[in-house]
Amino acid sequence: MEKRVLMNWLLVGAIGAPAVGLAGPFAVFFVPPSKGGGGGGTVAKDALGADVKASAWLKTHPVGDRSLVQGLKADATYLIVTKDGSIENYGLNAVCTHLGCVVPWNNAENKFMCPCHGSQYNSEGKKIRGPAPLSLALAHLSIVDDVVSFTPWTETDFRTGEKPWWS
Ligand code: FES
Repeated sequence: MEKRVLMNWLLVGAIGAPAVGLAGPFAVFFVPPSKGGGGGGTVAKDALGADVKASAWLKTHPVGDRSLVQGLKADATYLIVTKDGSIENYGLNAVCTHLGCVVPWNNAENKFMCPCHGSQYNSEGKKIRGPAPLSLALAHLSIVDDVVSFTPWTETDFRTGEKPWWS
């Protein structure tokens, strides 16, 4: 009798342990990933993958600076330092709307100039020269507890007065 009980427990252990081990990750699969940040958006990441902190960023990025961080959907996104020394309340997706090159900021020319086929965008990312068909995409930027984060821009594009092509 004891042998039968022992075999039953061994059977329960042999089936139960792996089942529990598989059920955990299976259940976690259905829980949406946290995007982090107090604002509920996607936290901006610097070149080292660390969260971008506004105060630290502004110590090393002067007025007029446009530097890249990782933004929505991990796209390269520009943070803009305004004339009053704060971070602009929107970010600019750096992906060229022509064929997808990352568009560098040209400080001397005061515009974004794509090296691939010559498209240009003004300091707000509005297209000023093709072949790019559209302006750079916008993202809302918020700072909560010093952490910079992005949320999708779904309203009218303030540069063109049109619906955002990217949403
Ligand atoms: S990819 Fe930028 S101009 Fe073609």
